[in-house]
Amino acid sequence: MEHRRHIFTCTTESVNSTVPSSMEQVSKIENNPVITAMEPKDWIKASIKHKEKLELLSKVWRYNEETEHVKFPKIAEISNNNVCFHEEFLIGSGGNGTEVYVCLGSDGVERAIKRLPKVLCKLLKNEQLLLTSQNAIDSPRVVNYHFYDDTSSPDFGYLILNLYEQNLEEFVKSEGEKTTEYRPREMIRQVLEGLKALHAREPRILHRDLKPTNILVDRKGNLALSDFGIGRFFPEQGATAYNTKTECGSKDWIPFECIDWKGLYSDKVMRDPSNAPSEFVWKETSDIQVAGMIAFCIVTKGKHPFGAEIHRMINLHDDNPVGLTELSDPVVKDLLSQMLAREQEKRPYVEQALMHPYFLSNKEQMRFLEAVGNEPEIKNSDAHPNCAVSNVLDNRDLSKPRSSLLPNDWKAVIDPDDLNTFCDGGRPASNYDGNRYTHCLRFIRNVRQHFGNKRRLPTLKAMGSATTLDEYFLQDQIFSTLPLVVHQIIRENPDWKKRRNLQEFFPVINRRKASGRKR
Ligand SMILES: Nc1ncnc2c1ncn2[C@@H]1O[C@H](COP(=O)(O)OP(=O)(O)O)[C@@H](O)[C@H]1O
Ligand SMILES: [Mg+2]
Repeated sequence: MEHRRHIFTCTTESVNSTVPSSMEQVSKIENNPVITAMEPKDWIKASIKHKEKLELLSKVWRYNEETEHVKFPKIAEISNNNVCFHEEFLIGSGGNGTEVYVCLGSDGVERAIKRLPKVLCKLLKNEQLLLTSQNAIDSPRVVNYHFYDDTSSPDFGYLILNLYEQNLEEFVKSEGEKTTEYRPREMIRQVLEGLKALHAREPRILHRDLKPTNILVDRKGNLALSDFGIGRFFPEQGATAYNTKTECGSKDWIPFECIDWKGLYSDKVMRDPSNAPSEFVWKETSDIQVAGMIAFCIVTKGKHPFGAEIHRMINLHDDNPVGLTELSDPVVKDLLSQMLAREQEKRPYVEQALMHPYFLSNKEQMRFLEAVGNEPEIKNSDAHPNCAVSNVLDNRDLSKPRSSLLPNDWKAVIDPDDLNTFCDGGRPASNYDGNRYTHCLRFIRNVRQHFGNKRRLPTLKAMGSATTLDEYFLQDQIFSTLPLVVHQIIRENPDWKKRRNLQEFFPVINRRKASGRKR
């Protein structure tokens, strides 16, 4: 018997009549004593979700090898990966007739194979090009590419990728109430880290089709950006936009600037193409607005920031992310309101978004407050009556009242005994004015200087569940919102953001220009 596998003899249509229709038929394979040797030598069994499909595939594979007279679907082999194009092995589908199947490498690695009709191979080819770029290869937050094939079959093109458990839409639905308080933050961070891999290094890439079904989740719950069919390299180094004649993206997940609003607001049944914008301009911040929509979907377990479907486009048009009002955490709300802004200039670049207080550790947040507390105008605010930052912090600027997120008297939120402990041996507590946040920042700075290097924490009454000084101060009842408010104040003041000791918290994005520089 010839143990040669058939290459591309099957399509979904051709195998349907021959495939085992139930597990019952497949169990016959198990009972066949000659079936043993054809499994990959060291099958690395990783997937939980697709375990059954893979086991079935392995059985069909072995069965194909050993018994040719019984009609089972031919296993197709693509670059040493074995796949059976039958709905039993289907794990996903998309627009354009995309079908995604599990496949098993003879090296024992479980993979996924994405199949597209031949006429659409240019999308697959484009995806291959982007996935094999250094930016994508180097990032664990971008789906892992294995192989591309557009020659073996007259009907289809194939892209072989690492196998993930599910897409983000499925994950959000299935996790529901199970997600912990910290999970959404980690997930949003991972989406942004994927975008950082694409946006922050030459040659830069725009994704242009972010949405929950284009983000994959692995067994450990880690996320990876996927589906680069309409992704684009920037036309040149340092360029800030990619111009395109057509709208792109997917319904509900398109940024404001990439929608033909005139067309949408027209009452004409047949749109006059000459009225459509001649170009849509896709920028990095276009990906960011959509990432903001996805982040909201993660935080709210499946909702859209621009509201119910029937109102969504109008709310997007009117710069009205209605969903934000239901977020109780002011920190994530602040980040998302920036990312979702209609004006592109108001949205952060990905590096800036990742330095938002939402993502900073307790230590980094306190280091930020300490750094601000060390600036001369804060150290001695009386000597700088014209400082915009200290004026807001101390509520001296009547046109910009201090944020309602801060208690009026910061001293009052600290246990009086703890306050004395913190001030013991230093500037006395009575010297700090509870209504002035410049004093608060100075106090924090002094406490960190005084106790920061000590191995043992002082004995504090209001320790709660905190185990470090940073955690103590960032407790809900104490200064949890202070890093956010200080961030909001400083980012309004361009000269402060650029200061040497603060610039790490406010990255300046300066894409290198093309002129004569090496790639
Ligand atoms: N590597 C993979 N591992 C697991 N599932 C995948 C993988 N790639 C795609 N899928 C599933 O298939 C669906 C469609 O794939 P996608 O690449 O988004 O195709 P399309 O370009 O047609 O949208 C995804 O939403 C996901 O559920
Ligand atoms: Mg897709």
